[in-house]
Amino acid sequence: MRLDKFICKSTDFNRNTAVSFILDGAVCVNGEVITDPVMQVHENNCVKLHGDVLVSRPFRYIMAHKPSDTICSNVDEAYPSVLKFLDIERTSELHIAGRLDADTTGLVLITDDGRWSFNIIRPTQQCEKVYRVGLRDPMSESTAVRLEQGVQLQGETSLTLPAKVTIVRPKEILLTITEGKYHQVKRMIAAVGNRVVSLHRESIGAVSLDIDVGQWRYLSAEEVACFYAE
Ligand code: URA
Repeated sequence: MRLDKFICKSTDFNRNTAVSFILDGAVCVNGEVITDPVMQVHENNCVKLHGDVLVSRPFRYIMAHKPSDTICSNVDEAYPSVLKFLDIERTSELHIAGRLDADTTGLVLITDDGRWSFNIIRPTQQCEKVYRVGLRDPMSESTAVRLEQGVQLQGETSLTLPAKVTIVRPKEILLTITEGKYHQVKRMIAAVGNRVVSLHRESIGAVSLDIDVGQWRYLSAEEVACFYAE
């Protein structure tokens, strides 16, 4: 973690104040004065501010059940941010690993650990996301196979990666994808001439939504560990 961020995570100072402390020579790492705010520090480094040892607060890992008409952003826009539901301190330090559209409901994972969320969103990780998709028109077996094999999205140079489709009922499918392109599910369904009328994320990797809409909970150690597997 960057030194300035480490100071924020272990005190109540903001980034600007942390940077000025560093530039003023008030910060030591392993006994040496460091004046570079972006220097990387690790858990086992001894960081002191004005001579006091700093201990970083633990990372937070959260599941929330996003309602419709909320947004996955740190600031409210046309709709309130999903972070509004978290009745905890310092929500501005948190970010969402894999955003959902305002009209999509379901599982969002929230954290202040950038390395962990990168494991969820980076395409090479092939992290499976399962969506329950309501459709305007019935889904045929042959169209499901096309979606599974990969379809051409407008504006993309390559086909979507292999997906899994389970037809639950004619106008409802479970779609499992490993990518997270902009409006990916809606664009995949549009690419086969259909339209999404409702969209709900049920799981990300081994973590499944198990709380009511608008609720949140901390993830268990096992759930957190799923995304540190590699
Ligand atoms: N795909 C979409 O089109 N929208 C979402 O919110 C998530 C995946």
